[in-house]
Amino acid sequence: MTITDPTRTVDSPAGELDVEVDDAVGDEAAFRNLVARLSRQSVDKHYDAYADIPWDDPAYAIDPTDPRWELDDSDPLGATEWYRRQPQEVRAAIGLYRCASAMKIGLQFENILKRGLLEHAFHLEDGDPTFRYAYHEVIEEAHHGMMFQEFVNRTPFELPGLTWDMRLGAARVVGLGRRFPQLFFMFVLGGEDPIDHVQREELRNGTDLHPLLETIMRHHVTEEARHLSFARHYLKREVPKLDPVRRQVLAVATPLILGTMAQLMMQAPKDMIRRFEIPDEVVREAYRDDPAHREATVVSLRKVRRLARELGLINPVSRSLWQRFGIWSDDATTAPAVAPRPQAANA
Ligand SMILES: [Fe+2]
Ligand SMILES: [Fe+2]
Repeated sequence: MTITDPTRTVDSPAGELDVEVDDAVGDEAAFRNLVARLSRQSVDKHYDAYADIPWDDPAYAIDPTDPRWELDDSDPLGATEWYRRQPQEVRAAIGLYRCASAMKIGLQFENILKRGLLEHAFHLEDGDPTFRYAYHEVIEEAHHGMMFQEFVNRTPFELPGLTWDMRLGAARVVGLGRRFPQLFFMFVLGGEDPIDHVQREELRNGTDLHPLLETIMRHHVTEEARHLSFARHYLKREVPKLDPVRRQVLAVATPLILGTMAQLMMQAPKDMIRRFEIPDEVVREAYRDDPAHREATVVSLRKVRRLARELGLINPVSRSLWQRFGIWSDDATTAPAVAPRPQAANA
């Protein structure tokens, strides 16, 4: 892929909102103000999966042999000798499969997210400002699900998405929206934050993206910025209210969730490995043995790791779990590296 326009910026309201409320953590009025602003922005700037994407424009058509789908060497698999030796149409098909698989997993993750949000909203009291925002988020995620599914439908692939054990776990996550919303919103961050980071890097680096993929990612990061802002500030408001037992459960569950989600989002799925007969040693070289890939995974979780630290969720037990999953950093020396392009669109 080649550099096109490095001046392009990612449209995001999150930074400005984060600064405003970071100064007033625990301040109920500031929280309500943030939620009101996020809700207003959802009215002022939102995208429709069909009205705002020219699906049938010939320039937006998906050709599985299009070289723009090929992985470049900033992708751990794209950087392997094995990948570079494949015929062009196979390299393109692998890249497209990777995008489509990310979207399939993304739309399934967002399905769980929507159900959990509705479960959460069902039990809110009248006048709670988070009710309206939860509904805005459900509506936006419904459009994301439709655009991801439409993309998948326009590829030649049949994708399995989440594995059976993940689907089983997912059903339990929905109930957390009511029973343990702090844990639920940590799950939300675990799914949304790493891939948001990856998509921003892709858009910022101006790689030669297919216009359909670029449009989908731009719509997505704009709306995800609001979702991430809401989840972070919800946690800042609610985690300090937890009793010690629940706080410890959250501290331990956080690295388990983030480690699992990061692996799911940042590595090639098993069905892709089978379909393209990618040898085991190539998979090991690309993911397990590649320090750049490990570093990219760590960097993609930096914001949520900092939040966990700020919320007092790092203790000796939880830190050892972060380390065991390979997602720990003290963040003091971690440069803002550009992550390889693990997946093109998700969550
Ligand atoms: Fe989202
Ligand atoms: Fe989304």
